[in-house]
Amino acid sequence: MNLNSGGGIIAAVVNPTAEGRLEYFDRAYLLWDGNGVITYFQSEPPPLEQMAHHEILLRENRVVLPGLIDLHTHLPQYEFAGIGTDELLPWLERYTYPQEARFCDDKLAEKASAAFFQSCLKNGTTTVVAYLAPFLPAAHTAFAAAEKANLRAYLGLTLMDRNVPATLVTSVAQAERNLVELLQHYHGKGKLQLVVTPRFAMSCSPDLLSLCGEFSRAHNLFLQTHISENPTEIAETLRLFPNCKSYAAVYDSHGCLHERTLLGHGIHLSEEEIALIRERAAVIVHCPLSNTFLGSGIMPYQRYRAQGLRLGLGSDVAAGYALSMLFEARQMVEVSKLLSRFSGKDERANMEQAIFQATLGNALALERPDLGSFALGKRADLIVIDDSLCDPLLGMARNAYHTLPERLSRIFYRGHPDMVREALVDGKVVFAAGS
Ligand code: GUN
Ligand code: FE
Repeated sequence: MNLNSGGGIIAAVVNPTAEGRLEYFDRAYLLWDGNGVITYFQSEPPPLEQMAHHEILLRENRVVLPGLIDLHTHLPQYEFAGIGTDELLPWLERYTYPQEARFCDDKLAEKASAAFFQSCLKNGTTTVVAYLAPFLPAAHTAFAAAEKANLRAYLGLTLMDRNVPATLVTSVAQAERNLVELLQHYHGKGKLQLVVTPRFAMSCSPDLLSLCGEFSRAHNLFLQTHISENPTEIAETLRLFPNCKSYAAVYDSHGCLHERTLLGHGIHLSEEEIALIRERAAVIVHCPLSNTFLGSGIMPYQRYRAQGLRLGLGSDVAAGYALSMLFEARQMVEVSKLLSRFSGKDERANMEQAIFQATLGNALALERPDLGSFALGKRADLIVIDDSLCDPLLGMARNAYHTLPERLSRIFYRGHPDMVREALVDGKVVFAAGS
């Protein structure tokens, strides 16, 4: 294939719209140029001459979605996903900190990083925002593995300087040196971005939080952390920061709340905190699978949306026990039904909203309007799903009598990673099942 030539795909396509809905195309023609920028997207075929020098993938029986975006996950935790029964703080002590400590072994870090990014792609995630282990060599390894996997990766060395095992501690001075080094090496190189990552207020001194606030603002970086996940965590945070009125005020008073802040969880926020987070235009990242697994609670997604908060969705592996953003989207819908039942108010989210959130919604939270949906000028990041693999009759129905919304519903409820057959980033195949 000519290196400068473009590509394309013919398939059933589900496309999120700016209004937060989904458009369905039983058959669409999607073309992109040699840089992976979309040049044609219609249900009618393009003129033949427009397809010249394009390698076209014929996938007429498959369903194409934009590549999924995971706004909150933890690379070093993937290895123990599905293990553990405790609530947040004992779970961190018992499973998480010992596992993250293992990443001081470079060989383990290398193997685990490569496996993690492959698993992201296998699950249909083409853009991932992840916390890394708290060691500089392991961070270098993770950035290198992400580059090799060819996905879009927003990665942060996890910073902690108190209330965690000594091996995980980074001093403020060292944290600054590490941030400078990673910024110079990786930020903005190819599809890599550095994220400033104070783990959560409990594990950070006021000086470390201030450094994170200042560094992220000075270099226009995203900052990721956790907020208001668990009642014991909230009480402990307020005890550690006696001069702050609330958990959100802890981050705000150290410069950590801004429009590039990604706040994981945010389940138990007060009205005052919601107003503050909205004013700062920070994003709250919903992690419903994790919130269920650790028994943390149910984040009121619809209420927050109505209150004008910016929202995201993340897998939060390993408290979230799956890396699949389609599982996460499904959990978002299912917990919203339970919340409605118990609150007596209609707080239900539906499948369309959840798929929008895992694609274009997360792209907008990440200030990437060029991702998450298909339109001229956007990036050709997409996944190809074989929905016959979700069929109770093992493909016998061949989808002949199901509408595309019905097929999507079955993907949503009965889907599994094996149904993702291909993942493309910038129009290039970066994952193909069985190869
Ligand atoms: N709060 C601080 N660290 C973590 C973590 O690793 N996972 C979750 N779910 N919450 C946290
Ligand atoms: Fe998390």
